[in-house]
Amino acid sequence: TAPLVIDCDPGIDDAIAILLALAAPEEIALAGISTVAGNKPLEKTTANALRLLELAGRAEIPVHAGLARPLMAAARPESDYHGRDGMGDTGLPAPGTTPSPVHGADFIADTVMSAEPGTVTLCAIGPLSNVALAMTREPRLAGRLRALHIMGGEVFPTEGAPAEFNFGTDPAAAHIVLESGAPISLFGLDVTRQANIAAELAEALRQTDTPVAEAAAAMLDVTAAGGRFVHDACTVAALLDPEIFSGREGQVHVEWRDPAREGTCRFEENGTSHRVVTGLDPDRLLRLIAGRIAKLA
Ligand code: BDR
Ligand code: CA
Repeated sequence: TAPLVIDCDPGIDDAIAILLALAAPEEIALAGISTVAGNKPLEKTTANALRLLELAGRAEIPVHAGLARPLMAAARPESDYHGRDGMGDTGLPAPGTTPSPVHGADFIADTVMSAEPGTVTLCAIGPLSNVALAMTREPRLAGRLRALHIMGGEVFPTEGAPAEFNFGTDPAAAHIVLESGAPISLFGLDVTRQANIAAELAEALRQTDTPVAEAAAAMLDVTAAGGRFVHDACTVAALLDPEIFSGREGQVHVEWRDPAREGTCRFEENGTSHRVVTGLDPDRLLRLIAGRIAKLA
C-alpha cells in the first residue's frame, strides 16, 4: 500500500475523495488529513474531516488543522454551496474526536520528509495554502513526493470564464506549488466538469445498504441538485485506475498578481513538468467510486 496525505476543505466532493481513499485499503494507506479554509471556514472543514473518519470507523487517522486563511488574498465570505455545515446538512453527527495539535502544513512536510524519498503521494483538493506553506518551510518537499494530484484551476477555459475556486481562493499559494518542481498531475475544471455523475452515483450507492453509502448518497443528492460534479474524487480515482483519465504534458502557470485575472491559468506547450488531465471516462469513474464505497462497512 502507498502512503497518501489528503489536504482538503470538506466539502461534499472532498468527502467522496476521502471515502474513496478509505475504501481502497489494498492500494492506499491514508496517513492523515490536513484541512484548510475553503468551501467553509477552517473550524468546519476540520470538523467535517473528523466526522467523515468517524462515519467510516477510521477515527484513528489523524486530522491536522492548517491555515484558516489564504497566504495573501483576503478570506472569501462563507458560502452555503455545500450546505451550512459543508456536508449538505444531511445530519452527520458532530465530531466526537478532536484534531491533532500538529499544524497541517507541518504534518505534510514531516510525513513526506520522514518517509523514503518518492513514496508519499499528496492529493491537494482545497485551496493550496497549506501545501505552499509546507513547501516554503521545507524546500526539499517537492522533490521527495511520489506524486502530487491537485484539483484546481482551469487550463483551457472558455473566454472570460472566472477563475476556478481553489486557485482563485489562494492564487499565491497555487503559484508557489505549480512552480515548485513537484511531480504534479493537475485535475482542473477541464476534466472534473466531465465528472458530472453525482445523481447516478447517489442512485448506485443507494443499492447498497450500508450507513456509509447511505450518508454519501444523501450528500451527493445536494451536489446533484447544484453542480453535479464530483471534482475532488478524480484525484484519488486516478491512483486506483489511472486509465480512466487522459491528458497531456505541459507547464501550467497561474496568475497571482493581477487582481482582475488572479487564479486563471496559462499553458506553456513546451514545458513538460506537469501532467494536465483533460479527459475521463465517466462510466468507469462511476463504477469505480460506487463499487469501492459500497464496500465500506
Ligand atoms: C473545487 O472547489 C470546491 O468547491 C470543490 O470542493 C473543489 O475542490 C472545484 O472548483
Ligand atoms: Ca475541495
